[in-house]
Amino acid sequence: MNQDLSSEQLHRLMEQEKVFLLDVRSPETFNQGHVEVKSPSSLINIPYFDLLKDPQASLTELIKNDTEHQLPKNENIIVVCARGRSAKSVADALRTLGYQASILIGGMQSWRDLDVSKAIIESTELSIYQICRVAKGCLSYVITSNGVAAIIDPARNIQPYVDLLKKLNVKPQYILDTHAHADHISGGRELANQFGIPYYLHPYDGIHPMDMLPATFSYEASWANKIYPLGNINIEALHIPGHTLGNQAFLIDQRYLCSGDSIFIQSIARPDLGGQAKTWTLLHYESLKKLMALPDTILVLPGHFSGPQEANANHTYSKRLGDLKNENAGLLEAKKSAAVFSEYILSHLPHFPPEYIDIKRVNLGLLVVDNEKASELESGKNVCAVSH
Ligand SMILES: [Fe+2]
Ligand SMILES: [Fe+2]
Repeated sequence: MNQDLSSEQLHRLMEQEKVFLLDVRSPETFNQGHVEVKSPSSLINIPYFDLLKDPQASLTELIKNDTEHQLPKNENIIVVCARGRSAKSVADALRTLGYQASILIGGMQSWRDLDVSKAIIESTELSIYQICRVAKGCLSYVITSNGVAAIIDPARNIQPYVDLLKKLNVKPQYILDTHAHADHISGGRELANQFGIPYYLHPYDGIHPMDMLPATFSYEASWANKIYPLGNINIEALHIPGHTLGNQAFLIDQRYLCSGDSIFIQSIARPDLGGQAKTWTLLHYESLKKLMALPDTILVLPGHFSGPQEANANHTYSKRLGDLKNENAGLLEAKKSAAVFSEYILSHLPHFPPEYIDIKRVNLGLLVVDNEKASELESGKNVCAVSH
């Protein structure tokens, strides 16, 4: 196969078979985010400028002399760069040497914009769609019942939700954010404005935890245990402070839990992004205990995933609460004492991306940025989980 691939086509191919990726960007940009593969041996970073280090030699000669031993002979090699231009030169040189080579059209810029929607369940009574923002590791949800819909944690690019609602021919009724996000810019307000429906947030999250300034827009209060009737089912807000003070999970029809930033598949959310790590860790502990008391059969639908290794066979991200209680590194610690849990959390906090303070300002209307700045602020993969 020597056919170049769009980000959608590459994603589909990676779900079906093992592919070999050659990323030709600098190590610095590669480390800031790259296409993630299940098997680490299927991804290699050889910077384009390393391939051009001898101005006398052609790219083909340089690959032949220096790089050939690192590349598989009988697999299709997908070359990835920032926008698709240098990848093309490398793919051409590889083909000259007899390799099968393609490029990711539009490079990482296109991969960063990729959203993939998959059904968790589909019926008239209840349908749940998981919208995966692949590069960022963010998951959001469209819940429908009997012709109406709720959208949970929509991302900045609202088009996938607008398209899906249109395709399903359902009328949006609620926009719910589990919390004021720090890792990405919410599309909640924009969607709510577009459809003329309410945007809900827990009021504790309507205040920036560091600036101590309130949101500059009005929203509807999503208080603890508020019930959102949706068609034939109910969605219940569960207040689970810890990751943020106003953090919420949404229990759907008593069977599914949109856990937002609390329980992920392998890890749990970090409680330090408000600058109150010690105090909020104890709140987090109590909230996780509350969630773990729910029935084991509940299917947890997280707000993030850490990589494709967490995907189910049908390429969605979910797990039964009962299994998570026995496997999730953070929940295993939450079964112990508060002191042990605190020690675990405080020794497993990843770096605090400084842009997270500004992203939350944008989400509360305290800072206005243009599209270019918004993309720059949320360009990296999310760092919302405790390390595991
Ligand atoms: Fe978060
Ligand atoms: Fe997050």
